[in-house]
Amino acid sequence: MKVAVLGAAGGIGQALALLLKTQLPSGSELSLYDIAPVTPGVAVDLSHIPTAVVTKGFCGEDASPALEGADIVLISAGVARKPGMDRSDLFNVNAGIVRNLVNQVAKTAPEALIGIITNPVNTTVAIAAEALKKAGVYHPAKLFGVTTLDIIRSNTFVAELKGLEPDSLEVPVIGGHSGVTILPLLSQVKGVSFSEQEVTELTRRIQNAGTEVVEAKAGGGSATLSMGQAAARFGLSLVRALQGEANVIECAYVESDGNLSRFFAQPLLLGRNGLEQRLPLGTLSEFEQQSLHNMLSVLKQDIELGVNFINQ
Ligand SMILES: NC(=O)c1ccc[n+]([C@@H]2O[C@H](COP(=O)([O-])OP(=O)(O)OC[C@H]3O[C@@H](n4cnc5c(N)ncnc54)[C@H](O)[C@@H]3O)[C@@H](O)[C@H]2O)c1
Repeated sequence: MKVAVLGAAGGIGQALALLLKTQLPSGSELSLYDIAPVTPGVAVDLSHIPTAVVTKGFCGEDASPALEGADIVLISAGVARKPGMDRSDLFNVNAGIVRNLVNQVAKTAPEALIGIITNPVNTTVAIAAEALKKAGVYHPAKLFGVTTLDIIRSNTFVAELKGLEPDSLEVPVIGGHSGVTILPLLSQVKGVSFSEQEVTELTRRIQNAGTEVVEAKAGGGSATLSMGQAAARFGLSLVRALQGEANVIECAYVESDGNLSRFFAQPLLLGRNGLEQRLPLGTLSEFEQQSLHNMLSVLKQDIELGVNFINQ
C-alpha cells in the first residue's frame, strides 16, 4: 500500500504523516510531498520511528515522484483559516492549488483513491472532479471530500455532554463541510436522547467547531492535530477497504445520486474500488429534515463555484 500526502509539511500534513507512519500496515510506503523545502527532512525525521513503513519526502514544483504508484492520495496542501475568515475565504488560493495537484495526480496516479482535505471542501471536491473529468480519468467512486473531523468532533461533544466514552458512539454527519451544510444526525445516536435545546446547541457547536479552534489559536492557524487524526482515520479506512476488509463504513463527501445535490456527504460502504455503496440516510427527525432542506441552496452554490472555476 502506498499512501501519498500532498501538503505534508503543513500542520495537518505533519500530524497525518506521523499517525500514518505509526499505523499503516507493515510493508506500506508513505510518500510525503510539499512545496516547502523542509519536506524531505520531515520524512527523514519520521524514518527514525521504528515501524515497517518506508517514508520518503519530496519538495519543489513537481509532485510526480511522490505520486508514482500511489494507491491513496490525501491532499491537505493550501492555506488555512485565520480569525474572521470562513472556509469560503480560502477559495481563491486553494482552488488553484487543488486544481494543480489533482492534474498531477491525473497524470501520474490516475487510479488512486483521492481524499481532499483542503478547504473549502464543498467546492474543492467539485474542482477536483471537474479537473479529473477534463483529464479523462474521473472515477466518482475514487474521489472523497474528507469530512471525518465533523464526525469525531460530534462523537467528542456528545460524549462530553452525556458522560459517555467518546469511542463508544458514532454520530453520522451528512451534507457538506461548512456552516449550515454540516448536519449531525443526533437522532440516530444509539442509546442517547437529547432535548430540543440540546439538539439546537450541539448542532450549532458542531457546525462552528472549526471557528472555535481558529479563534483559540488566535491567528496561528486552524485545526491541525484533530484534523490529522481525522484524516488518518479516514485514510486507514481506505487502506483497510482496499485490502478487502468487509464492512468498512465512513461518512465522506462524494458524487451522489443527485437527488439532493451533486455532491453530498453521507455514510458510505468502502471497498476494493473505493466507494462501493452509498448507505441510506435513515430516518431524520423533523429538525434534521428542516436543516437538510435549508442547507441545499448553500451546498449547490458552493458546488457551482467549483464547477465554474474549472470550466470558465
Ligand atoms: N477537511 C477538513 O476538515 C479541514 C480541517 C482543517 C483544515 N483544513 C484545510 O486543510 C488545509 C491545510 O491546513 P494546514 O493547517 O495544514 O495549513 P498549513 O499552512 O499548516 O499547511 C499547508 C501546507 O500546504 C503547502 N502547500 C501550499 N501550496 C502547495 C502546493 N501547491 N503544493 C504542495 N504543497 C503546498 C504549504 O507549503 C504548507 O506546508 C487548509 O486548506 C485548511 O483549511 C481542512
